[in-house]
Amino acid sequence: MEALPGIEKARDLGLHVVVSDMNPYAPGMLAAHGQLVASTYDVAATLKAAIGYHQQVRPIDGVMCLATDVPLTVASVAVELGLPGIPVEVAARAMDKLAMKQKFAADGVAVPWFSTVESADHLQNLAKEHGLPLVLKPVDSRGGRGVQRLTPEVNLAAAYERALVQSPSGRVMVERYLPGPQISTESVVLDGVCHTPGFADRNYEFIDRYAPHFIENGGTMPSHLPAEARQAVRELVQQAARSLGVSRGVVKGDMVISDGKPYVIELAARLSGGWFCTHEIPLNVGVDLVLAVMRLSLGLPVDPATLQPRFERGVALRLIFPPPGRITTIEGEQAAGNLPGVAMVRLAVQPGDIVRPPTDSNASAGLIIAVADDREEAARRAETAVQAIQVTTEPA
Ligand SMILES: Nc1ncnc2c1ncn2[C@@H]1O[C@H](COP(=O)(O)OP(=O)(O)OP(=O)(O)O)[C@@H](O)[C@H]1O
Ligand SMILES: [Mg+2]
Repeated sequence: MEALPGIEKARDLGLHVVVSDMNPYAPGMLAAHGQLVASTYDVAATLKAAIGYHQQVRPIDGVMCLATDVPLTVASVAVELGLPGIPVEVAARAMDKLAMKQKFAADGVAVPWFSTVESADHLQNLAKEHGLPLVLKPVDSRGGRGVQRLTPEVNLAAAYERALVQSPSGRVMVERYLPGPQISTESVVLDGVCHTPGFADRNYEFIDRYAPHFIENGGTMPSHLPAEARQAVRELVQQAARSLGVSRGVVKGDMVISDGKPYVIELAARLSGGWFCTHEIPLNVGVDLVLAVMRLSLGLPVDPATLQPRFERGVALRLIFPPPGRITTIEGEQAAGNLPGVAMVRLAVQPGDIVRPPTDSNASAGLIIAVADDREEAARRAETAVQAIQVTTEPA
């Protein structure tokens, strides 16, 4: 769903768009000229389908992903078809939180202390040795699934199981929890140089309400950070991109500033999801990262000037988390859309659906994006619009 704006953009540019998805009726598939029925997470299946299309239907000139974490599939297709892309080993490292952190640590890129976790007992020992709070996470998952903040109240054995089931390769790691403001960045790398028009404060107001899970409740732009701190984050993104091995492509950073110093939590080698690159960044600074990545993936030049902010406006995204239960009614969607500055209202649920207590950000029932002259007003507008939407539930 979040890839649709990109598919539409590519069509508007006059491109012939081929989409892959395991669901032949996915919205993106219906919007495409050509369809490859294969899970984007299944590298071999996507490769087979892409080669077949390339040879038998129409040559493919470029490959990219949007709003999905599959740089390895993209890189593999690019290599096989001789298309521009990042090296396969770089993409693989970008999808493995442990391998990525090991590379960062070896290259002197600031990351929190981390360790692999071999068992629940091992976790108990690490917690004793290093103290709490720690963050436990699957090595190869996404969207915050299985990521938990370990505090003294948390049962470590149960937390370990919850992380383990979210890891396709059955691997879990633990890190020092770094308190402090969290930042999302999104950059295009040209000739090894990072251009970072995407820079947002992540909103973690619910960190205690939904503990031990990290529930991100949207973001606010421009960042509240002073210019020097923003610059320090940008420089760290640059170091991290170099260490990861992305010299031409896109990197999406999860960064934190703790005790005045920036750290990398993760650097993804792909465009963001959650409407960040498709809506928030264009509304905030007028830069189109999706277009830049389309050009890169087709082997076309990208002018760094197009990655410079053209203006600065306040933008806020807030998620809608109704009380858990079975949805009986949804009201106020239209009224919310008519409120000042509301740029997007999206509801992902309907009456009859079950709302579960959130354990990751994907559990939200929808979202609002609002704009204003400054960040505070944008946040107020988004929060007002969230309040205007009434999702009532009854015990399921
Ligand atoms: N060591 C840490 N210190 C502080 N916060 C952390 C730490 N590790 C993870 N987090 C928080 O938890 C979120 C999810 O962790 P992580 O990025 O590792 O998992 P993910 O599954 O890729 O989630 P997402 O898709 O939200 O990035 C991070 O974006 C960050 O807000
Ligand atoms: Mg992440």
